[in-house]
Amino acid sequence: MLFRSPAKVNLYLRIGPLRADGFHPLVSWFCSVGLLDDLEFTLTAADELTMTSDVAGVPCDERNLVIRAARALMPYRKVASGLMIHLSKRIPMGGGLGGGSSNAATALRAINQLWDCGRSDAVLDALGATLGSDVPFFLHQPSAICRGRGERITSISAPRARAIVLILPPIEMPTPQVYRRFDELGLGTDLEAIERNLPDPAIAPRELLEVLVNDLEAPAFDLSPALADLRCACERLVGQPVRMSGSGSTLFTLYEGLDEAAEVASRIERELKVRAVPTTLGA
Ligand code: C5P
Repeated sequence: MLFRSPAKVNLYLRIGPLRADGFHPLVSWFCSVGLLDDLEFTLTAADELTMTSDVAGVPCDERNLVIRAARALMPYRKVASGLMIHLSKRIPMGGGLGGGSSNAATALRAINQLWDCGRSDAVLDALGATLGSDVPFFLHQPSAICRGRGERITSISAPRARAIVLILPPIEMPTPQVYRRFDELGLGTDLEAIERNLPDPAIAPRELLEVLVNDLEAPAFDLSPALADLRCACERLVGQPVRMSGSGSTLFTLYEGLDEAAEVASRIERELKVRAVPTTLGA
């Protein structure tokens, strides 16, 4: 059975100072996008759990959150079947698009159903949070404000901007390292003040872009000056703000509709020789 696993962007990402548990408190507007991985689940007679992927370099063992999600549900399995899982990967790794977390959330939902585990949404949320900070969002997409370390979710309207251009440079940003540089730079926003001033989903794409902030841009650009240069070049080319998702390296800009996004994406690819994907936002 085929399950789709979408990428996300952090439209808005504000981060407080490091907590005692090694995580950072955040307030972030997450929104899913139309760039999808596919997960194909096949029930097998043998009592096995195996995973394959069409992309070399994707670990298909206990390092993969999909396998960890399956292991977390195994004690509740009510059918005498194993599982073969195949991942068709389109979401780049190390891109700040949450591909691994999305795969984990998709696996939790799918396996809960296929193994008849009977776990409630609240239990899946709690299991998801043990797998990774971004996993719970994917159980509540397409559009939500996430708080805590990412696990406290409040759904909100998707933005009026229905199209996004994802700019995907061949740069992998390791999330823990970006957070470490954030600490080294002495950064940390007052999240209480942020709460009074969250962006309004109803405003037009360009206006929205003007008020979007990502507190991880400073440390990511410090670690990768090439990414900072690319952002500047993209903004010059498209004539409106370009933001970064998560800990990078994906950059994005927003439009009302897909036609305009497609035109801008091909211009970015032609002029800047970097992959740019036009797709839906918050669908
Ligand atoms: O939870 P996840 O495995 O995605 O987090 C990866 C790393 O990102 C953490 O080990 C931590 O260094 C950093 N992180 C953080 N604060 C968050 C989320 C992630 O410091 N809210």
